[in-house]
Order: sequence, then C-alpha cells, then structure tokens
Amino acid sequence: MLEIKVYPDSILRRKAKDVEKIDDRIVKLLDEMAETMYHFNGIGLAAEQVGILEKLIVIDLRREGKNELIELINPVIIDSEGTYEEHEEGCLSVPGYYDTVKDRKKWIKVKYLDRNENEKILETDEFLSVVIQHEIDHLNGKLFIDRLSPTRKMVFKKEWKKLQKEKEKAQ
Ligand code: NI
Repeated sequence: MLEIKVYPDSILRRKAKDVEKIDDRIVKLLDEMAETMYHFNGIGLAAEQVGILEKLIVIDLRREGKNELIELINPVIIDSEGTYEEHEEGCLSVPGYYDTVKDRKKWIKVKYLDRNENEKILETDEFLSVVIQHEIDHLNGKLFIDRLSPTRKMVFKKEWKKLQKEKEKAQ
C-alpha cells in the first residue's frame, strides 16, 4: 500500500516526467497504485498522488460492479472536442470535498503506452473522458480545485478549513 499525498502537499504541484523504460520497478509501481486506489475506493490515481513524479495513471470506474483496470503510461491528449459546462469531481488528494469543475472536454483521444510497451489510442466521450483529464492534470501539477470558479474557490477554502478542524477533533 502506498501513502496518498494530500493537499496542500507541494509534491502535488510538481510536473511528472515521461517514463523512459517500462521495467520491473514500473510494473510493480502500477500494481501498488492499483492496490492503493482500490483500498481507498478511488476511481483513478496518478503517480504524483503517491509522491512519484512519473507519468503513470491507473483508473477503474468499476461500472456495474465489474473491475476494468486501465493503466496509462505517458498519456497525451492528442485531440478533443466539445466542452462540459460543469462536471462534479472529487479527488483522493482532496478528501471529503466535491465540487463542479468547469470546461472539461467531452470527447478526447489519448495516446499512451501499456505495461507491455504497446502504443495505444483510446477515444471516449463518456465519464472516463473526464477521469482521464483529471488524472493527466495531476501529472501537470494541477488539481481539480484549481479549475473552480473564483466563488467556488472561496467556498473550497472555507470548507477545507472546516474539514481539517473536524479531522483534528476526531483524532
Ligand atoms: Ni485526483
């Protein structure tokens, strides 16, 4: 199990580097990231969130209770179309807070490597599209709270303080 870095940890603000060689270390890391994501009931996790600055993402939407793990190495969005006005998001690195994010793309085309070093292309206009954009943001040092409107950012600051106080009390 890996430890999840929580906002405002500065590592979440750094940029991840391309994975140059998919070796045993990377494969093990992908396994541990998936294990960590399942443990915390997340639907996506970027390496950045476990303090590793490499372009690795695991996603499992567990639709209809079925596991469908997607691993993306060095993902790049090569095309996109349409925009959601609003989309509700949350994040394992910002636990307990959910809000509506503006301007996520609807349809995306992503290029990435799988763990066997095969180049893959994925196209989606479903929920998965937004999850991939959220996770790629992590690799660029960006969090979903950065994409809130100015008013919602103020709400976040207040709510976050409240959440931290509650956490302290519970300890
Ligand atoms: Ni996240």
